[in-house]
Amino acid sequence: MSDSLDSLREETLVRIDSSRNEAEIEQLRIEALGRKGRLTLLLRGLKDLPADERPRVGEQLNQLRQLLEARIEDRLELVKARDKEKALREETIDITLPGNRWERGRIHPLTAVIDEIVDIFWGMGFEIARGPDIEDDYHNFEALNIPKDHPARDMQDTFFVTDGRLLRTHTSPVQIRTMENRQPPLQVVVPGAVYRHDDDATHSPMFHQVEGFMVDGDIAFSDLKGVLTHFLKQVFSEKAGVRFRPSFFPFTEPSAEIDIQCVICSGYRRNAQEQHCRVCKGSGWLEIIGAGMIDPQVFRFVGYDPERVSGFAFGMGVERIAMLKYSIDDIRLFFQNDLRFLRQFG
Ligand code: PHE
Repeated sequence: MSDSLDSLREETLVRIDSSRNEAEIEQLRIEALGRKGRLTLLLRGLKDLPADERPRVGEQLNQLRQLLEARIEDRLELVKARDKEKALREETIDITLPGNRWERGRIHPLTAVIDEIVDIFWGMGFEIARGPDIEDDYHNFEALNIPKDHPARDMQDTFFVTDGRLLRTHTSPVQIRTMENRQPPLQVVVPGAVYRHDDDATHSPMFHQVEGFMVDGDIAFSDLKGVLTHFLKQVFSEKAGVRFRPSFFPFTEPSAEIDIQCVICSGYRRNAQEQHCRVCKGSGWLEIIGAGMIDPQVFRFVGYDPERVSGFAFGMGVERIAMLKYSIDDIRLFFQNDLRFLRQFG
């Protein structure tokens, strides 16, 4: 018994001292102290010894177990410390490598164009108002003098929600909401999203408009002309020609559509290769704003006396202006959030 004890001790201690890594040490521990380890087997053999030898041998075995456990623990610490030191010695940090760059955020081109438009009107004394995207029939159509059978109400154009409500098809309902709650003089612009059942390279089911209106005792068509001409020269170019054409909207009378000279061919109608300009389709002009004098019927709906107030209103598509400013030929680019596109702005 004491022979095998001695040899177990010597062998194990030698192996502990020569072990080089955690796996070897663990293997060693299992062989000596594990469930079927040599020391464990000796401990189990105790019961076969004569009763008077058991205490002494048991004592020796326990001491050996403690010794081995302690030495294994020490060795483990030593090996770990060596590994760590080795890693520190061998691993180097290349401080010349470029670090991770923080991407700088940018303003979305549509937001930038909305801000620019609103700023120009702000400079002329307009205030800013907003209204709900989900509207009722009354504010989106009825009070704007769009009767029940008007083609603009066609299912093709309007997204209906439940309970007779709908996604506003233009920002004009905010004219009504503002006038319902306030008295002239009013000078307001309304940026916001609008919705129409339409989807191709130049139409998106959700797009943005900026509405504007001015109401006071004696606002004339010349006020509308002055304000919008100034606006267009600011957003596009001082040199750009501006033209007013008669048009029709149920909520304005008279109504106009306002064109600017084509920003691509400058009214020349042809491009550098002497080909038909595709943006203005060779007309030399681009339609950009719908406008007119607010219809007396609309004033009656909001409780104003059309004999005592007059005003003008206008509405423009933000995407169209952004597309012309930046020569973008597909409206969907604004909403795909492709960073390669967005990084070109701001
Ligand atoms: N609401 C019209 C549209 O969406 C634009 C417009 C606004 C026209 C105000 C005249 C006056 O087409």
